[in-house]
Amino acid sequence: MNTQPIGFIDSGVGGLTVVKEALRQLPNENVVFLGDQARLPYGPRPAAQVRAFTWQMVNFLLQQQIKMLVIACNTATAAALPDIRQKLNIPVVGVIVPGSRAAIKATSTNHIGVIGTEGTVKSNAYADTIHGKAAHIKVTSLAAPKFVPLVESNEMTSPVAKRVVAETLQPLLHQGIDTLVMGCTHYPLLRPLTQNVMGDDVTLIDSGAETVSEVSMLLDYFDIAAGPKTQATRVFYTTGNAKMFDVIAGNWLGLKVNAQHVTIDA
Ligand code: SIN
Repeated sequence: MNTQPIGFIDSGVGGLTVVKEALRQLPNENVVFLGDQARLPYGPRPAAQVRAFTWQMVNFLLQQQIKMLVIACNTATAAALPDIRQKLNIPVVGVIVPGSRAAIKATSTNHIGVIGTEGTVKSNAYADTIHGKAAHIKVTSLAAPKFVPLVESNEMTSPVAKRVVAETLQPLLHQGIDTLVMGCTHYPLLRPLTQNVMGDDVTLIDSGAETVSEVSMLLDYFDIAAGPKTQATRVFYTTGNAKMFDVIAGNWLGLKVNAQHVTIDA
């Protein structure tokens, strides 16, 4: 039994979509989350800068004695996962491989769409991962840079959000895509609008939620799961506005959230 927390990092509130699934699948686990809202979005930033910022988040969470790290951000996973995994002596999980695996399983037309930030799309990480496992599958990727600001400003159901989602997804319609990877952990907060535009015949893949199944498996594999009697703790940090974070996190997780503001770039 290991009651050290699992650490989750993201550029902002998107990683909470992964935390939500972790609280559902792994209720005994202690959780510590850090969102780097002061410097989001990560999507348009050069990969080297995303890597540097991600390391600052990792170093902060290492001070909290985490037993496992979940990079709950696609842009950071694409830019930094191999480097971080190589240098840490705890298990490190990213969101791209689990999302790709789930998409391959779901498609029957063998045409998968991927939406992500500019950084994730430019990295080709989803297409490479999917083709590494199933070369015959066609992957069409599209950057959706306007989605993250909508989520971070708590505008998930506004008429503006509806219009932006509809306009952004137009190029993916009528192409035979039957599976769409929401390749940014912010995007599941726009899931109803996305499903509405893509239609009910398209399966949406929440890469973050898929990731938690992998986390669960690794806890068992390394024999580091928390025991059933644990009084689980949930601790939230943000480099941005803690009050705004609490509103979005509280609504999304159905919890009373009291995030602490921190500085990690000193
Ligand atoms: C962003 O900060 O641009 C979103 C990060 C991500 O989940 O890819």
